[in-house]
Amino acid sequence: MAASILVTGGTGYIGSHTVVELQQSGHRVIIVDNLSNSNKSVLGGIAKITGTRPDFEQADCTDFKAMDALFAKYGDIKAVIHFAASKAVGESVEKPLLYYRNNLTSLINLLELMSKYGTEALVFSSSCTVYGQPDVLPVNEDAPIKPALSPYGNTKQISEEIITDSIKAGARYKASILRYFNPIGAHPSAEIGELPLGVPQNLIPYVTQTAAGLREMLSVFGNDYNTPDGSCIRDYIHVVDLAKAHVVALDRMLDGKSADKLEIFNLGTGKGLSVLEIVETFQRVTGVKLNYRIVGRRPGDIEQVWADPEKANKVLGWTARETVEETLLSAWRWQQKISS
Ligand code: UFG
Repeated sequence: MAASILVTGGTGYIGSHTVVELQQSGHRVIIVDNLSNSNKSVLGGIAKITGTRPDFEQADCTDFKAMDALFAKYGDIKAVIHFAASKAVGESVEKPLLYYRNNLTSLINLLELMSKYGTEALVFSSSCTVYGQPDVLPVNEDAPIKPALSPYGNTKQISEEIITDSIKAGARYKASILRYFNPIGAHPSAEIGELPLGVPQNLIPYVTQTAAGLREMLSVFGNDYNTPDGSCIRDYIHVVDLAKAHVVALDRMLDGKSADKLEIFNLGTGKGLSVLEIVETFQRVTGVKLNYRIVGRRPGDIEQVWADPEKANKVLGWTARETVEETLLSAWRWQQKISS
């Protein structure tokens, strides 16, 4: 069987967009997902875009036996891109053990199996959350890791340490840790996009659902921050740009081009936008008026963070290309499709 890339969480939001980019650049993909926060119909969307339906296995990465059987079944898994994780910050505060179990056990299982089966490379989904509120903006990869504000954030920090320590201890695989800023938008085909379960916690799905009339009003969490318009600032990156970075990081390792066995990259645009700027831009590009009001701050929110993406730009030769206007439009086209 041809060598394959195992994508955990491949039916999820970032995972599905990455599977598309992998297939379009010639990689053979196996998705493993427990479908706890995604839907098998995503496979049809991927097939429509790429012409190929990826192999799919429903399994939980915390289940060592099931994952061992999967590695054995496919025989030649050349690399793993590990997206599968619980990701709701608020839920992680209420259910810390669930988060530690899901996010850490799955990673440890995968690393053990990668060693057992001689898998060459890992791409790991980390987050700018590891920087907390950085002292210097834009934030680069050498900035200090700040104490995590949530169990979710802590799982990303500990995961980075687990990968680092296993490589230090002589594991044979290479790893690329990707620290995402705020991924938004949907594939331009509108065949795949974000499918939040229940009430969205993140800004863009809340914006698009409000615009579509599914939510009454968007709450803007705070306008008394120390920022030009008082609302929080983030670095919003098109999910397709983010997905493409995974392919570049993966190929760099598989082609033997990485400088070190472990490399870390920020994935952002380098540009910070406030919540109110996002609201204004969304209204301008879609022509839809958003019902919103300013409410109090959301506990745990960081005031402002945006990336210094220079390392990824130079070393990976990757740059986030999409404008925020096009990115917001893609999110809106997707919302209109799923709510029609
Ligand atoms: N916001 C609102 N109203 C909403 C939702 C969000 O005003 O209904 C604001 C937030 O206060 C924040 C900004 O929009 O200022 C972005 O919030 P998101 O929830 O979309 O994103 P976060 O930056 O809070 O979180 C994201 C990921 C996390 C990750 C974190 C790292 O969702 O997984 O970035 O900073 F940990």
